Amino acid sequence: MNTIQQEKVIVIDFGGQYNQLVARRVRECQVYCEIWSYKTPLDKIREMNPKGIILTGGPNSVYLEGAASAPKELFEMGIPVLGLCYGAQLMMHVLGGKVERAPEREYGRTKVILDPVPSPLYERFPSTMTCWMSHNDYISQLAPGFEVTAHTDNCPVASAQCVEKNLYAIQYHPEVLHTEFGKQILSHFVLDVCECAGDWRMDDFAEQQIEAIRSKVGSGKVLCALSGGVDSSVAAVLLSRAVGKNLTCVFVDHGLLRKDEGDLVESVFGNDGPYDLNFIRINAQDRFYVRLAGVTEPERKRRIIGEEFIRVFEEVAHQIGAVDYLVQGTIYPDVVESGLGGESAVIKSHHNVGGLPDLVDFKEIIEPLRDLFKDEVRKVGLHLGIPEDLVLRQPFPGPGLGIRIIGDITAEKVKMVQNADAIFREEMKEAGLERGADQYFAALTNVRSVGVMGDERTYDYAIALRSVNTVDFMTADVTEIPYSVLKKVMTRIVNEVDHVNRVFYDITSKPPGTIEYE
Ligand code: XMP
Repeated sequence: MNTIQQEKVIVIDFGGQYNQLVARRVRECQVYCEIWSYKTPLDKIREMNPKGIILTGGPNSVYLEGAASAPKELFEMGIPVLGLCYGAQLMMHVLGGKVERAPEREYGRTKVILDPVPSPLYERFPSTMTCWMSHNDYISQLAPGFEVTAHTDNCPVASAQCVEKNLYAIQYHPEVLHTEFGKQILSHFVLDVCECAGDWRMDDFAEQQIEAIRSKVGSGKVLCALSGGVDSSVAAVLLSRAVGKNLTCVFVDHGLLRKDEGDLVESVFGNDGPYDLNFIRINAQDRFYVRLAGVTEPERKRRIIGEEFIRVFEEVAHQIGAVDYLVQGTIYPDVVESGLGGESAVIKSHHNVGGLPDLVDFKEIIEPLRDLFKDEVRKVGLHLGIPEDLVLRQPFPGPGLGIRIIGDITAEKVKMVQNADAIFREEMKEAGLERGADQYFAALTNVRSVGVMGDERTYDYAIALRSVNTVDFMTADVTEIPYSVLKKVMTRIVNEVDHVNRVFYDITSKPPGTIEYE
């Protein structure tokens, strides 16, 4: 859906690995920006009336047939253009310069030497700086009207410009933190060259989205599947602020949530909560437990939970009948993961929402967060007054505790892991470590062993505690939780949680371990 923005920069996506970062850095300059596919028609770009255009990196070679390209007119609209890496090469190629395979690939931190040419991008910079390079091709000949503004030992054109036409080409990656002054370079482009005001805030985004949704939806009916996670919660609140009671939120409690989590979601979104919306909670715990009884294989568990969820939702959707819009909490990383770049609406393939569009009779999907990064979504959530407990929560897998109980699932085991997990979280908070780890939880190993409680021999379960620090959840280090905290958690769990007689702290990093157990 379109957003109402006075002033924006368009990032044109050529499929490079740092594209998300480019958009992020522009927003850090307090300039609104959107990412669009390189396939976006020129007329559409013109219609958006951007103050500036940034062409990203990409994996292709501009001179090969079928390579992602851009029309010459893009550079002739009078709108400032900054090309980065592939984008820089493309600018040269399209405007009459030459790009060739470099004798040697240039990769990693590289010393860039600025040429004695005034450039608005390098205002008050030292004469050399360290930059992040990653390219196989190089600009061997400038397009007419351009001048070189920097070079490296291997690369004659590390950057070039045509100031008169506001066209700038940079071979290295200013968006990557390894590039010294990278943020200043982007800031010089958007604030000085494009003359953006730099007064945009995440709060503005929320208010503008509310206005845009209100004028689009009018008195239409909107349906939102609420998982209680950050993204769907923020999307739901935005919608409720825009359309009030025309929004219906459906929350399915599958009985595999953390302790008291269903009640937390209900206290925020339910009829006694602060938002004026229709809230439907379906307590479907028993249905899930029946279907999961005796199932031990992790992927089968995941599939059953997903399928049952769809069935429950289908029944509710049937009762609600046709709606005009379906809300999805898709965020930018979901769009990227889908492999479609920034080019089209994508359905989030999370078990909570995957497949919903097939079940619900609706006209259009609304994805109010699809241009945002996770931390930006959190900022919007805080601006909207959603409780911190919900907005700052750690990731929780869609299949929930279903993949934190090794082996078969029973209501009793769910209770064990919920109680142990709640104790672990309480003690982490008590120790001031609540935000000191990125994800931490208790899991139920399927191991039973002999123990002794009072004078009694026990034959009970072992709980595993897991806590990791990670940036992207692809790799993770184990949190070095003080021994005194672990000891307290162990004592409380064995005393307070029935049928648990041992507690392990998992010290395996990822890789070779994964974060979850199944
Ligand atoms: P792993 O276990 O693969 O987890 O190291 C990486 C991150 O992904 C989350 N995760 C899931 N999330 N459905 C989800 O919605 C799943 O099936 C699933 N499996 C893992 C996990 O919590 C961690 O943040």
